[in-house]
Amino acid sequence: MAKTVRLEPIAQETSVETNGNLLSVLLNKDLDVLRECGGRGMCATCHIYVSDGMNNLSPMNRREQRTLEVITSCQQNSRLACQARVLDNGVVVELPPGMYINSLKDIEDLIGRRAEQDLLHPITGKVLVEAGKLITRSTLRTIENSENLNFNSYFSNSSESGI
Ligand code: FES
Repeated sequence: MAKTVRLEPIAQETSVETNGNLLSVLLNKDLDVLRECGGRGMCATCHIYVSDGMNNLSPMNRREQRTLEVITSCQQNSRLACQARVLDNGVVVELPPGMYINSLKDIEDLIGRRAEQDLLHPITGKVLVEAGKLITRSTLRTIENSENLNFNSYFSNSSESGI
């Protein structure tokens, strides 16, 4: 039987088959979710907040827990949409503010402009460029050289695995 989910960003209720995941709900409504790892629970691009009905979702698995632990914007009500399956009515979903960066080229294309919203790292959810800040070549270099973010290795691994 279908279950009802409320999507706060578009102020709409929609339905999903019992045990369907939240990612399919978001994609059906054309919400901008990158699903960089292909729905395997290994990136942060489908990170959402559940503002109500957390108990009506499937329990968190270890992979989801591990991925969420590295997201700087993680909160108590964080879930990965690709891993959270809807078991009952009453789930309310919010999206974290900001846009996840798909590749370094995304940033390169924006050089000379101001970020319209926070630009986020796809694994850690860390803010790479704050909304309103000018994006320059040195911004790009700083991101490329940031060992903590491990941006380059992430994207070379992504393309090798054909994601
Ligand atoms: S799509 Fe990557 S964790 Fe959900």
